[in-house]
Parts: sequence; C-alpha cells; structure tokens
Amino acid sequence: MGLWIAVHLLAATFWVGGMYFAHRCLRPAAELHLPPPQRLVLWRGVLRRFFSRVWMAIAALLISGYMMVFIYLGGFADLGLHVNLMQVLGWVMIGLYLYIYFGPYRPFKAALDDDDFAAAAEQLARIRKIVGINLALGLITMLLGASGRYWAFL
Ligand code: HEM
Repeated sequence: MGLWIAVHLLAATFWVGGMYFAHRCLRPAAELHLPPPQRLVLWRGVLRRFFSRVWMAIAALLISGYMMVFIYLGGFADLGLHVNLMQVLGWVMIGLYLYIYFGPYRPFKAALDDDDFAAAAEQLARIRKIVGINLALGLITMLLGASGRYWAFL
C-alpha cells in the first residue's frame, strides 16, 4: 500500500499543483507583463509540456488508485465513502481534461500556426475556464483522499 499511495500522492500533487501554478501564478503575471502574441506563444510551450506530463499523472493516479482498491481495500464492495467520491470526482476531472485536450487545445494551436492571435486568445480563455474548474475539483479530491480515512468507514 505504501508504494501505491506514494505514487498516487505524487501524481495528484503534480497535476493539481501544476494547475494551481499555471492558473493562479503564471497566468496573471503573463497577462501583466507580456503583449498578447508573446503571451500566447508562451502558453503554447507551457501547455505542450504540461499536458504531456498530465497524461502520465492520470495513468499513475488510475493505476495506483485501483491497485489500492483491489489489492488492499477488498474491491468495490467495501470502499469508504471518501474513495467513492474520489473516484467520481477523479473521472469528472479526467473527462474535463480530455475535453480540453481534444476540444479547445487543437484550434488554439492551429490558430497560432496561422498567426491568428484573436482566435487563439478565444480558445485559451476556454481552456483557462475549464482548468479553473478542474483546479477546484482537484483540491476537493485531494482533501477527500487525504482526510477521508479519519471520517469515512471502510
Ligand atoms: C479516479 C480514481 C481514483 C481512485 C480509484 C483513487 C483511490 C484512492 C485510494 C484507494 C486511496 C487511499 C484511501 C485511504 O487509504 O483511505 C486514495 C488516496 C488519495 N487520493 Fe485517490 N483515487 C483516485 C483519484 C484521485 C485523484 C484524481 C486525486 C487528486 C487529484 C486523488 C488524490 C488522493 C489523495 C491526495 C489521497 C491521500 C494520499 C495520502 O494519504 O497520502 N485521487 N485514493
């Protein structure tokens, strides 16, 4: 259990912490200090690197989460409420990430390739909104995961 929970916690920290940094620190600073074309090109580089690692974080969260469920917690039948809530919120977060990746992220990159900065900014605003929602869900999920064993019955 120790190994899987360590992998799980690292993946969650990376994904949620990365969203916090991008949404609450990098975005306001870039808006303040960079003109739109440079800012949008910066975001293309940031998102390309971050998203490629989010795929790995999602794989690590799912594998480690379900390893703990099946090997140590007796499968779906005996799960505590916090693990069930975590699963639901986790799948919603994954769905929203897939929506970003296969939705606005593609036209964002295509608009930048065409130097259409207005269209790219529009898609980036959509990405930002959904990342904001996923950040809130991620923080709630981490709180549930970390505190649940003290209040939910296994
Ligand atoms: C989607 C499927 C998921 C499954 C099956 C799952 C499963 C689990 C299980 C079984 C535990 C151990 C609970 C306990 O011992 O009381 C756990 C802990 C935890 N989970 Fe998840 N989880 C999932 C998604 C997520 C997501 C998306 C996040 C955050 C982004 C997350 C964050 C955490 C945290 C922070 C802990 C506590 C780690 C610790 O105690 O150090 N989990 N999870």
